[in-house]
Amino acid sequence: MPSNAQRDDAVQLESPEISVTQAAEGYTLLEQLEAEGIEVPYQCREGYCGRCRTKRVSGEVAYTSAPLAWVNPGEVLPCCCVAISEVVLEVG
Ligand code: FES
Repeated sequence: MPSNAQRDDAVQLESPEISVTQAAEGYTLLEQLEAEGIEVPYQCREGYCGRCRTKRVSGEVAYTSAPLAWVNPGEVLPCCCVAISEVVLEVG
């Protein structure tokens, strides 16, 4: 039988999925994630560097301003958008 440490290691995820169920008024998705203690890399926080690019597993977002950085299908720039449905992201 494995020790507790081995069992804990077995359930850790390298790229955990997180879910945002609704937008917090006045907050971008990035700010909402930060408020939940979830770290997402960022630089400009204005949609032009692309540093915050995050995989979107499901759900829809609306951009508060048109991002200048490219956004591939299945990705979001959380620094400049809000959730408009339950959004599941893969971070890490
Ligand atoms: S932090 Fe620069 S695009 Fe999001």
